[in-house]
Amino acid sequence: MGAPGVDGLGDVVRVLRQWQYDAGPVQLHPGDVGWFWRFGAQRTAAATRTWSRAGKVLAVGLLDGAELLRLAFAPQALRDEELARQVVEDVSAPERGVLFEGRAYVEAPTGALVQDLLLKDGWASGEPWTPLRCDLGGPVSDPGVRVEVIGPEQAHEWAAVLRASFDGSTFTDERWRAMAAGAPYVDARCLVVRNERGEAVAAVTVWSAGEGRLGLIEPMGVHRAHRGHGYGRAVTFAAARALQQLGSSSVVVCTPSSNVGAVATYRSAGLEQLPERRDLYRNAS
Ligand SMILES: CC(C)(COP(=O)(O)OP(=O)(O)OC[C@H]1O[C@@H](n2cnc3c(N)ncnc32)[C@H](O)[C@@H]1OP(=O)(O)O)[C@@H](O)C(=O)NCCC(=O)NCCS
Repeated sequence: MGAPGVDGLGDVVRVLRQWQYDAGPVQLHPGDVGWFWRFGAQRTAAATRTWSRAGKVLAVGLLDGAELLRLAFAPQALRDEELARQVVEDVSAPERGVLFEGRAYVEAPTGALVQDLLLKDGWASGEPWTPLRCDLGGPVSDPGVRVEVIGPEQAHEWAAVLRASFDGSTFTDERWRAMAAGAPYVDARCLVVRNERGEAVAAVTVWSAGEGRLGLIEPMGVHRAHRGHGYGRAVTFAAARALQQLGSSSVVVCTPSSNVGAVATYRSAGLEQLPERRDLYRNAS
């Protein structure tokens, strides 16, 4: 297991891009790393782990908070036994500095051998998440609203909509600038939807992984004072259009299944609900 350091993050993002393909599982995306980058390059590097063999990265982990490790695997390594055993060993031993003692969560793509091994080791199935996906090969509906791509001058508006969308959000312009300075942001766009009075009412970030690969929505929200007017659906259409223009083959998103409003909104914008995925967790003692 390795930690790439700030200088190695570009390579990590490059391999993650290659692992986002239509027939593959929905898994940790360069956009997830890009969204984490709002905390700055140092913290992103400190939260990133890689597993390699013969100089080739086969798995990437992002410590999304102190208790959650999110994993992605190279297509040929999803069921590689040696790799899966190594990941489980590193995750289970606190002294390896991945997950500390006590309660911990691992998010692994559907079909990854790591899941089977953790379950055998006594880890339990946790909260269900719903991935959703839409092919971008055909036309995408017109959002029917005013959509703007956000640059540094409007970052404060995007940040304000995000804070008004997610309870407890502490997002700031400064975080936006840190995110926009990150390697994955080269292939990303932040959008806002405005209402007829010109107020910013919905916000989204889309992350392309390059031509012909899966593009990710993370995050998406509608200002709590403007819900129930179709802006969630509209901003999702806008996101899909932006990803189509960036060359993505599909748009994907993953949300807790308990977020009924989000699942309904994505479905109403034409995304197809895929089978649920569950995090695995280990209890405190
Ligand atoms: C989820 C959210 C984006 C919905 O925004 P919105 O502008 O109210 O959604 P819309 O008006 O476009 O509604 C779209 C569809 O979802 C349905 N819907 C929206 N919220 C719903 C809820 N809480 N429960 C059930 N259905 C809901 C609507 O009825 C509509 O369905 P229809 O197309 O069949 O008529 C908004 O509540 C939000 O920002 N939540 C907090 C942030 C969040 O969870 N973001 C998504 C996770 S990444």
